[in-house]
Amino acid sequence: MAFISLTSTVLLSSVLAWATYSAACLLINYRSARKLGLPIRVLPISHGNPFWMIVDRKVTSLCRCIPFVGDNNFTRYNWRGWEVEDKCRSHLEMGDAYVQVTPGRNWLYLCSSESLLEVFRRRSDFSRPLELYELLRIFGSNLATVDGEKWKKQRKITASCFNESTSEVVWTESITLATDMLKFWSSKEAVSSTADDVRTLSLHVLSKAGFGKSFKFQSQDGQSVDTNPALNYKESLKIVLDNCVLIMALGTKFLSRPWLPTKLQNVHQACVAFQRHMTSVYEEEKRAHAKGLSSDRNLLSSLIRASNEEARASSVSTGSSGGLTESEIYGNMFVFNFAGHDTTAHTLMFAIAFLAANPEIQTWLSEELRAVFANRAADEWDYHRDYPRLVRCHAVLMETVRLYTPVPVAKWTETSTQALQVGNKSVIIPPNTMVIPSYAALHTHPRYWGEDSLEWRPARWVAKSTDGKEELKSPPRGTFMAWSEGDRSCPGKKFSQVEFVATMAVLFKDWRVSPQLFGKERDTDARRRLLRLIETDSAQVLLLQMLHPERAPLCWSKI
Ligand code: HEM
Ligand SMILES: *[C@@H]1O[C@H](CO)[C@@H](O)[C@H](O)[C@H]1NC(C)=O
Ligand SMILES: *[C@@H]1O[C@H](CO)[C@@H](O)[C@H](O)[C@H]1NC(C)=O
Ligand SMILES: *[C@@H]1O[C@H](CO)[C@@H](O)[C@H](O)[C@H]1NC(C)=O
Repeated sequence: MAFISLTSTVLLSSVLAWATYSAACLLINYRSARKLGLPIRVLPISHGNPFWMIVDRKVTSLCRCIPFVGDNNFTRYNWRGWEVEDKCRSHLEMGDAYVQVTPGRNWLYLCSSESLLEVFRRRSDFSRPLELYELLRIFGSNLATVDGEKWKKQRKITASCFNESTSEVVWTESITLATDMLKFWSSKEAVSSTADDVRTLSLHVLSKAGFGKSFKFQSQDGQSVDTNPALNYKESLKIVLDNCVLIMALGTKFLSRPWLPTKLQNVHQACVAFQRHMTSVYEEEKRAHAKGLSSDRNLLSSLIRASNEEARASSVSTGSSGGLTESEIYGNMFVFNFAGHDTTAHTLMFAIAFLAANPEIQTWLSEELRAVFANRAADEWDYHRDYPRLVRCHAVLMETVRLYTPVPVAKWTETSTQALQVGNKSVIIPPNTMVIPSYAALHTHPRYWGEDSLEWRPARWVAKSTDGKEELKSPPRGTFMAWSEGDRSCPGKKFSQVEFVATMAVLFKDWRVSPQLFGKERDTDARRRLLRLIETDSAQVLLLQMLHPERAPLCWSKI
């Protein structure tokens, strides 16, 4: 008895201590936020609290059920991914800038295109909060985990590796893989593995473009695959990507302990195998380079070459900052894979689901595809000639990432005070303030996107040029930033666009997709059900994604 009461006393007092401390921090942050002169929402729990992150959705949705008091700022804002549902509502209520005060930091949300362009332009005033990207350091320092001069050096070398040769490889590989994927999908009555299959596709495109390794498309659906991570580089990369939060939390050292459960040992083996693979390709490439042999072109070999050239240039003139270290090369190869995998895969999943719910857009797509390709077989499709003409396929991508922007972006003022113009107001932002582009609001604000801004309508991206040809509209600068803006924008933008467009072309030239009917359901009801699933079951995990796309199996049929 005494023991229980002692434990509960200790527990209670630590909870009290934590609550008091949080309240004190909240008060300090509130005072500081008041000086901004912007609307304020006070939230009791920090957005970065790791314990809270595990239960936030459950707790807030439970609280919401309490009559009369359930609808408050806590249940509205204090969980990860609230933006998806909110869209531009908060900004319509409070204007282009407002502050969320939490015990951790103050979070300034922005939805004005001019202010956001300014934030992206002033890269050192509004820098990247590097602590959020620590988990990407598993294999070494890289583009995403550094800032300042170090970032400049890495960016210069890495960006040079993404060029038209890469895009061409991406184009060809995506077509091959999508053809096999479609073959598999169309052989089945209904497909519930769409999300997994497009992840496989995007991983395989990355392994070809990144390391020069081709893999045949193989669905995980129902069949057992060889999962010994030591044998297969691709499998090891997949395990590493799927478990990177775990790897980061436990650390690679800890994971090497032999007494861990099999699952964790597998993760460790995968890390080792992936590292070993990178080292062997690296050594191979170095040998080829020394002999003056031109080996296969891929991101890894380009990275090594660009890095060597940079190092040579810097030994001649002292102005240059040198090449990448071996560990920086590994770090960057990993981050390409990390940043390029689920971003594209989740976007493909959203797009296929939207298309299944909108058969008339599928018809609109196949019109374009038949005009461009006529009767040419897929292996004759040409990147340079055909890709630029696939305007409608590209429009489907833009419209999908407009409504479901996969990558969240965060900047902060770090240790300095910054002035920022928001509309007519000059806002003085204190140090240690997060500055967040409200993508969900910016991309749906009626001021920029019109009254039907919440509707998925790819045709809004298509304009007729003077000679009657269709072309992709570019929206006014600063109103669309799914790949970010400025110096630090996504270097894989073209990569993802080419992969997406090629996949769309294969899937929709001669085929149609629709949601499987449940029981006596009518087509229109099934489509409405699918749209509802997209709207109510999408959330931010690491990225924004559909949580249970398998709940709406899809059927493929030939036109
Ligand atoms: C639909 C697909 C994609 C979207 C929407 C997307 C979006 C973004 C965004 C918004 C950022 C900036 C993040 C920030 O500032 O915090 C970013 C950075 C980055 N992306 Fe992508 N991305 C996509 C695909 C890819 C692909 C395919 C690759 C590589 C093959 C890639 C590689 C990178 C890298 C390396 C960075 C870090 C750049 C830096 O910090 O300098 N991304 N991406
Ligand atoms: C949220 O907070 C604001 C400012 O404190 C308050 O005016 C508003 O009524 C709150 N909203 C809800 C739904 O409680
Ligand atoms: C792309 O970059 C590689 C080196 O990384 C270079 O050899 C190749 O010629 C470039 N291709 C184009 C089309 O610029
Ligand atoms: C900004 O100032 C101009 C002129 O002073 C005024 O017409 C406009 O309404 C103001 N805009 C806002 C958002 O207050």
